[in-house]
Amino acid sequence: METDPMTSRERLVTMARDSVAFEASGTNQLMDGISTMPVSNYFDPARWQREVDLVFKRLPLLLATTAELREPHSYKAIEVVGMPVLLTRGGDGAVRAFVNMCSHRGSMLVDPGSGVARRFTCPYHAWTYDDVGDLVGIFKQSDFGDIDMSCHGLTPLPVAERAGLIWVILSTDPVIDIDTFLCGYDELLAFHHFEDMHHFGSVQLDGPNWKVGFDGYVDFYHLPILHKNTFGTAISPDAVFHRVGPHQRITGPRQQWAKLAGVAEADWQTQDLLGGVWSVFPHGSIASFAVGDFKMFQVARLFPGANADESVSHLDFLATSEPSPEVAELVQKQIDFLISVVRDEDYATGLKIQRTVKTGAKKEFIFGRNEGGARHVHGWLDSILATSDADLPALFRNARD
Ligand code: FES
Ligand SMILES: [Fe+2]
Repeated sequence: METDPMTSRERLVTMARDSVAFEASGTNQLMDGISTMPVSNYFDPARWQREVDLVFKRLPLLLATTAELREPHSYKAIEVVGMPVLLTRGGDGAVRAFVNMCSHRGSMLVDPGSGVARRFTCPYHAWTYDDVGDLVGIFKQSDFGDIDMSCHGLTPLPVAERAGLIWVILSTDPVIDIDTFLCGYDELLAFHHFEDMHHFGSVQLDGPNWKVGFDGYVDFYHLPILHKNTFGTAISPDAVFHRVGPHQRITGPRQQWAKLAGVAEADWQTQDLLGGVWSVFPHGSIASFAVGDFKMFQVARLFPGANADESVSHLDFLATSEPSPEVAELVQKQIDFLISVVRDEDYATGLKIQRTVKTGAKKEFIFGRNEGGARHVHGWLDSILATSDADLPALFRNARD
């Protein structure tokens, strides 16, 4: 007999129960044995190109937050992995995604950035599109000649807005749908209510190979070492991983869980079950930070850059409400702090790793029993690279419990 699937709240409770048990016993979640991975995975151009083509061009990517596109007729233009994308929210409230390319002769329609616009006029010859992507005006049409304007709108891309976050597939010929890919992870992310949050700011940072960078976002082992001068040495290097398909939530087993011990599970407040780092495969990481009584989130996404040695990270900062001027100052300080940690500690280290990996001195990297986060990511990457377009949806469907 099939059992009913767990509700999302039950899933959160189950995760927390694990963490409480680890906390109570003072133990840690460890993988069986150690594993190794070829160092060339971090710089080989052929491997990198396969990741671009088979991961970043096939899977949904987290390109925006609802908070950035809250108003009708708001837009965001962003270029990632060589694809210029225009996101719009129509007057009907729906988010749409298009290739940011004019149908006439290919000018980029909108420069990267965001704003509010009902019409987009091409800077080259002033063809004009509305925010549902239809071509609505041709400059000097009588001289240009007759074309069927209904056939020359912007090219749509698959898009879905879930849990206050916006995913786009960078392909006009998708092989997987966004909900299959999410495996229900969005139902857990939804407890954060990102859709109600205020977008506080964005920053882009250059970094090393995207996997060198992303390894750091799923790794607590380095926290009290690399970040000893910023987060401090008291932070735990231990981690508990809860997987939902390729996605994973990572929590420290010693932090917020003690206060749940001895409290009936039915009385656990959902807010108390949401801590940790919410990693969104293949490239996203959502972490919360307290600023006094105020809560803010860093939504980081890493994208392959121009070649195997480069990446571009987009960091967006959300806050649970529009802060007062005094709190806003503290939030900005926290954002500046987080940017400096990522840039001056994580990526500064990663950029040096990007130089050492090409020395040829080591053929394999070692991942310990306590490094389950990166092992989960790399395992999924290998599986996806080995999976045909036709079999890709089943890979994700089978991972859904
Ligand atoms: S390229 Fe856009 S109007 Fe000509
Ligand atoms: Fe770090």
